[in-house]
Amino acid sequence: PSLPAGLPWVGQGLEYRKDPLGFFLRYADRGAVVRTRFVGTDVYLLNTSEAIEHVLVKNFRNYPKDAFQKRALEAVVGHGLFTSHGDFWMRRRRMMQPAFHKNLLAAHGSVAVKAANTWMASRREGEAFDAYPEMMALTLDVVAETLFGANLSAQARELGRAMEAVMLHAQHLFDTPITLPAWVPTPGQLRFRAGLRALHAVVDDVVERRRKQGGPGEDLLGLMLEAQAEDGEHLTDAQLRDECLTLMIAGHETTAAALALSLWLLARHPEAEAALRRELSTVLGGREPTVADLPSLPYCEQVVKESLRLYPPAWGMSRVAEQDDRMDGVHVPAGTVVAWSQWALHRDASHFQEPESFRPERWADGLERRIPRFAYCPFGGGPRLCIGAGSALMVIRLVLATVLQRFHFDAAPGPAPEVLPAITLRPKGGIPLTPRAV
Ligand code: HEM
Repeated sequence: PSLPAGLPWVGQGLEYRKDPLGFFLRYADRGAVVRTRFVGTDVYLLNTSEAIEHVLVKNFRNYPKDAFQKRALEAVVGHGLFTSHGDFWMRRRRMMQPAFHKNLLAAHGSVAVKAANTWMASRREGEAFDAYPEMMALTLDVVAETLFGANLSAQARELGRAMEAVMLHAQHLFDTPITLPAWVPTPGQLRFRAGLRALHAVVDDVVERRRKQGGPGEDLLGLMLEAQAEDGEHLTDAQLRDECLTLMIAGHETTAAALALSLWLLARHPEAEAALRRELSTVLGGREPTVADLPSLPYCEQVVKESLRLYPPAWGMSRVAEQDDRMDGVHVPAGTVVAWSQWALHRDASHFQEPESFRPERWADGLERRIPRFAYCPFGGGPRLCIGAGSALMVIRLVLATVLQRFHFDAAPGPAPEVLPAITLRPKGGIPLTPRAV
């Protein structure tokens, strides 16, 4: 494909930086593989399910995570499940996968319902709140208890601040190709180091206590402590700390954004909210939901799928070609970054009629089986499918089912919340919602 016009060397880098979501949308119908250039690196944009499947499934071994991602995330979570590749990754994934087994996840359902109840107890009718920070607090409770079996709400504020500081720094590393060495004491790097120290202190303390306590328990950390590689090797304390940080960071902001935007979408679509409430009332009749109820709540599942379609918390993904390759007739030289965006894929009108409309019913009757495999991929796919997808889908549905039985939320009229395509997609300004008892 021909290179679109752009500045020499910088290429489309500035255009991308100005508006990353609009960038992917603009290039979405220029072909399966669109060649662009970002500050000295060729970046090929992938616009079809087949091209993405090639990278994530068929030629998976040739496509590790690219240097931009690795540099930003390794600074925070080290070399582990999220950042590694090849045999190292496979070994780690095999060790951690059993902790996410369905039966064990079921135990986490009651954690989500409990966290939703605790959160609701602090709400007052008629008093507006900002949905994203509130859902961040709620999901931090869920992450702490499912991951560590511990209640960290006493440290929640400190943990929240520390995570914010490290993620800001990761974002900076991601956005800025050339940065000062890590030891230079700029205010940003000092805040990052203090944040990382605070996170390490909390996690190290939990790991030590959990080791003493022994037994697998129902928390992910307990299972990771027992996990063994094929050769019998266990994870060291430092490796456990990095994997705990990975799971905290991967699971916390993403789930919070999905919940906050789902609440907003329901507030602004009374017919969808009414349909969901009817389903909840028929199936649950006012009692708390459990994991066993989820198969009887198909509309709730459709609401969540539709919310993740319009606002995919993981809004883009990328990899780098290790060896020369060919995709859709296009030569992909070694070193090329390939990237695609769920934000753009999920707005493809050939798979989703009126793609900008929130229509949970579109998922009834097996839409997912009729569209190509990667036309809808909020959790990525292939061997590196999000390890927490089942957990996140369960938590989001249970929290919505708990909260919507008690409250309706009023949202201000006006345009949809602006979103910021940071490492994850997050609301840019506040999402004020006002609870009313139902
Ligand atoms: C990977 C999305 C929740 C842990 C991923 C990937 C996506 C994703 C798209 C693939 C990234 C890539 O291959 O480049 C989401 C979304 C979530 C969510 C949208 C919530 C709505 C969670 C939760 C956890 C988690 C709750 C943990 C408890 C991970 C980990 C990986 C991952 C460890 C890396 C897996 C690997 O490479 O083997 N996630 N995630 N995520 N996610 Fe999630």
